[in-house]
Amino acid sequence: MSIDPAINADFAQRPRLRIPAHLGVIMDGNGRWAQARGKRRTEGHIEGVKALRNLVELCITYGVGHLTVFSFSSENWARPKDEISFIFNLLRRFVASDLQRLIRNNVRVRIIGTREGLEPSLVRLIDDVEAKTQANTGLVLVVAFNYGGKAEIAEAARKLAREVAAGRLSPDAITEERLAGALYTAGLPDPDLIIRTSGEQRISNFLLWQAAYAEFVFVEENWPDFNEASFVRVLETFSRRDRRFGGIEAVQS
Ligand code: IPE
Ligand code: IPE
Ligand code: MG
Repeated sequence: MSIDPAINADFAQRPRLRIPAHLGVIMDGNGRWAQARGKRRTEGHIEGVKALRNLVELCITYGVGHLTVFSFSSENWARPKDEISFIFNLLRRFVASDLQRLIRNNVRVRIIGTREGLEPSLVRLIDDVEAKTQANTGLVLVVAFNYGGKAEIAEAARKLAREVAAGRLSPDAITEERLAGALYTAGLPDPDLIIRTSGEQRISNFLLWQAAYAEFVFVEENWPDFNEASFVRVLETFSRRDRRFGGIEAVQS
């Protein structure tokens, strides 16, 4: 992995660069990256994993506390079977090849999304990577896998409704905090910044609830081309934004 020393030296000269406490990334454009080079879509996914590895290291270097990446949506089941199994195998391989490095780098991994419909061996793998990195205290890497924001909110509503039906919870006690605590992301801060690559400007069911006050930055590069220079450019854009949270003055973060 190459952290460009020139960019880093430059980075030190930018005292006003604001680093998000929680960064969300919709890693889009793997297929188009491959097609533009006459390759199969699957090759784009392979390159996408390399860009992800790079991003994890960048987040560690630049001091991002939480990173959530969208790696497979609940709507991605609409893709050809071959592509789906390729993506699933990539996740397995990523865990197998990168687990030791993640542990060494003090990264804590959390996988969010529904485990329903996943093969038991994959669920075991996910549980295992979470357990083996649980004690780590560095970057929290949240992988949204088999994840859909609407499904997450519906599942939280069901969970709370069951509590109410059992007489353990009053309907009046269902506050924003209580609902947030029933989401997959319970305990995580909301994302400050969400990046989407590939020029698409939509949320595609990613962190719907949590993104209420996130800043969005859309970049033209396809995900495999996203590198340190792109990352710094996005942080510069984010640093220039005024976040007002409904008030009239920018809130410093
Ligand atoms: C993002 O790239 C990765 C996943 C959704 C798994 P795409 O596969 O969506 O690539 P494009 O958008 O078709 O180019
Ligand atoms: C969003 O990308 C999901 C992931 C990046 C995993 P998609 O490529 O699935 O989104 P749409 O279908 O273009 O909205
Ligand atoms: Mg896409």
